Amino acid sequence: MPHHLDLPQGFRWGASTAAYQIEGAVDEDGRGSSVWDVFAARPGAVRDGHTGAVACDHYHRWPEDIALMQGLGLDGYRFSLAWPRIRPTGTGPVNEAGIAFYDRLVDGLLAAGITPLPTLFHWDLPQALEDGGGWLDRDTAYRFAEYAAVAADRLGDRVPAWITLNEPFVHMVYGYALGIHAPGRALMLDALPAAHHQLLGHGLAAAALRERGLQVMIANNLTPVRPATDDPADVEAATAYDALHNRLFTDPLLLGRYPDLSAFGLTEDLGGVVRPGDLKLISAPGLDGLGVNYYNPTRIAAPADPALPFTEAPIEGVPRTAFDWPVVPDGLRELLVGLRDRYGAALPPITITENGCSVADAPAADGTVDDPDRISYLAGHLDAVAAAVAEGVDVRGYYTWSLLDNFEWAEGYHQRFGLVHVDFETQVRTPKASYAWYRDLIAAHRASP
Ligand code: NOJ
Repeated sequence: MPHHLDLPQGFRWGASTAAYQIEGAVDEDGRGSSVWDVFAARPGAVRDGHTGAVACDHYHRWPEDIALMQGLGLDGYRFSLAWPRIRPTGTGPVNEAGIAFYDRLVDGLLAAGITPLPTLFHWDLPQALEDGGGWLDRDTAYRFAEYAAVAADRLGDRVPAWITLNEPFVHMVYGYALGIHAPGRALMLDALPAAHHQLLGHGLAAAALRERGLQVMIANNLTPVRPATDDPADVEAATAYDALHNRLFTDPLLLGRYPDLSAFGLTEDLGGVVRPGDLKLISAPGLDGLGVNYYNPTRIAAPADPALPFTEAPIEGVPRTAFDWPVVPDGLRELLVGLRDRYGAALPPITITENGCSVADAPAADGTVDDPDRISYLAGHLDAVAAAVAEGVDVRGYYTWSLLDNFEWAEGYHQRFGLVHVDFETQVRTPKASYAWYRDLIAAHRASP
């Protein structure tokens, strides 16, 4: 009996991936080097020295992967364009062979009845731009807008809606503050310019997309922040964390201003990084949709170390994924309702652009892959989406992370998030039990009155 969900007809069902995590073919057809190629080659950077050099070999196997999407009955597929395939050094001439790959992919998706939803930046900056400062440098935002314009000129006749950035918070924190993702810089709070320059890049790219009649979205990883206790020191720490994780990347877009970051010793212009007119560009003329990537809530307590105004506290007493992330489906309802309450009329329609979990899946002797934990994760989170919709939040679609097991950044191939199992030795794809479950759920929803 397929899971029943009270979601509106026209609700869009999808799955998500990202270029460096699935494509492989890093040296083919003129692709330039990205920060992830360089970072993954550093000893110790990625678990067991894994890299995305081959990944799911999607660059060659995309027709098979589209057939898998078609088998699910997806409305939409979220993927990312690799900037270094399209403009290998970030500034020079356009690489026609790189664009041609996405041309084929987009045509293949449309022929399968699937709407392409590309993300322009999912963390694989051309290394040549990183050598000039990467997102710490304001110029990168202008280069991003040029690349966005090229992509839109070539694909915009077939691709209606675009996501500019993926999870700018994670990119700033893991990539520039802690150095556990590419480009591997550990600047702590000096990483903040990478937040503003990504947002500026969003604003400039949004203008380029809009000039071409295209819709603009962004995919933010958001988390409901819960104070560890109702002690005022914990509540204050939670407010500071919420400003950094959630508001820093959403207030400028929807309200045209930065949140109060004084707990971090930061001024409103982020120490002179924000120039007059920037916030107008970032917020205007609004977003067509807010993409929300949700995995778990965050519990915050008063600082243990004076360097930061908060400390993360464990969430106990709930199931955990193979990645050891807490499973709290109602956190998604809380997040969505909280966004509506915070932003009111300024909040555009929401699409869940990522949600899913890592499970230690392996084929059984008969070759099948049974992943009941993923099914219950997805079912619980979809119920949470339906509950938020029942409370009046405008959610238009749900894209699960991920279609395929893939290169999970610093964890290499150790965390499997796919509806489809990938054997990374043979590239054999095996749909898991969750694939059949999601397929049946989509079909049942479409057939429901
Ligand atoms: C967020 C990222 O956008 C994606 O690249 C990653 O694989 C998933 N979350 C899981 O960590």
